[in-house]
Amino acid sequence: MILTAPNKSPVVEKDGPVLVELVRQLLQRYPDEFLQIPFIRTTLATMKIDSLGDDAFQLGDVDDPSALIENAVSYNMKGLVGKVSLFRPSILIMPLRSIDAVAENLKKLKVLSVGPRTEAEIYTLVACGFEPDNIRGLDLISYSDFVDAGDMHAMPYEDDSFDVIVLGWVLAYSNDQKKAAAEVLRVLRPGGVVAVGCEYTNLSNEELRAQDADVAEAPKFKTTQQILTLFEPAVDEIYFRHDIAPSRREKPGSLMTIFRTAPDDRASDGG
Ligand SMILES: C[S@@+](CC[C@H](N)C(=O)[O-])C[C@H]1O[C@@H](n2cnc3c(N)ncnc32)[C@H](O)[C@@H]1O
Repeated sequence: MILTAPNKSPVVEKDGPVLVELVRQLLQRYPDEFLQIPFIRTTLATMKIDSLGDDAFQLGDVDDPSALIENAVSYNMKGLVGKVSLFRPSILIMPLRSIDAVAENLKKLKVLSVGPRTEAEIYTLVACGFEPDNIRGLDLISYSDFVDAGDMHAMPYEDDSFDVIVLGWVLAYSNDQKKAAAEVLRVLRPGGVVAVGCEYTNLSNEELRAQDADVAEAPKFKTTQQILTLFEPAVDEIYFRHDIAPSRREKPGSLMTIFRTAPDDRASDGG
């Protein structure tokens, strides 16, 4: 029992290892319910990073370095330490979870998260009900059994391996976004679902640098249509779009879209 009557010592004080074992068992038996608590997700993700030695990080092989923005690895290594953020992955994954075609098949869908950075994004997918065994991450930098070290421009997966692919704020690190999109479409099964989130800013790279920001040298998206165009002509049905409202165009924000690709039969008969 974790809860105790008033004036009784909580189990954690007198029996720490029992509590740790209880947490481990709860995580194994009820991963989604347990990880629905944001505090648990950030705590677990942060504890894991804090426990890592320097040799725990694997770097993915890169076939064509010109497809990567300069300093892609060092820039993202810096982002690994410090506060683990749950906010961004959640604002894309929650709408994904609410789409009927996804919600009805949650337990069997195979999901790839491209560029999760930390395990927090993986935990967010688990909290939404995806099966841990069906989730893979792919990142240039990995320290996790869930995340394969690799490059989104040459993904280490067979064709049609996944039902759902999440690209959370990762396309900005590509100098060849068409190639990254083509890889997504290759490893996604026909009729699969793609969820993309990207940063929006109305500032130019020069203006951002003047503010001392680390700036990725990739084209900046201004609308979700520009994101969707990368995946044409495979985009079949658009479930969700978040564009920047005219009244907010001066502020930084997020562009997000979730869509389904054409099923085989429609693609083959030109429909
Ligand atoms: C800004 S973080 C996004 C983290 C998280 N998805 C989010 O929404 O907050 C971008 C991640 O993409 C990864 N990344 C950058 N270029 C990549 C590439 N070519 N292939 C795979 N991952 C890449 C980085 O290592 C980093 O972990």
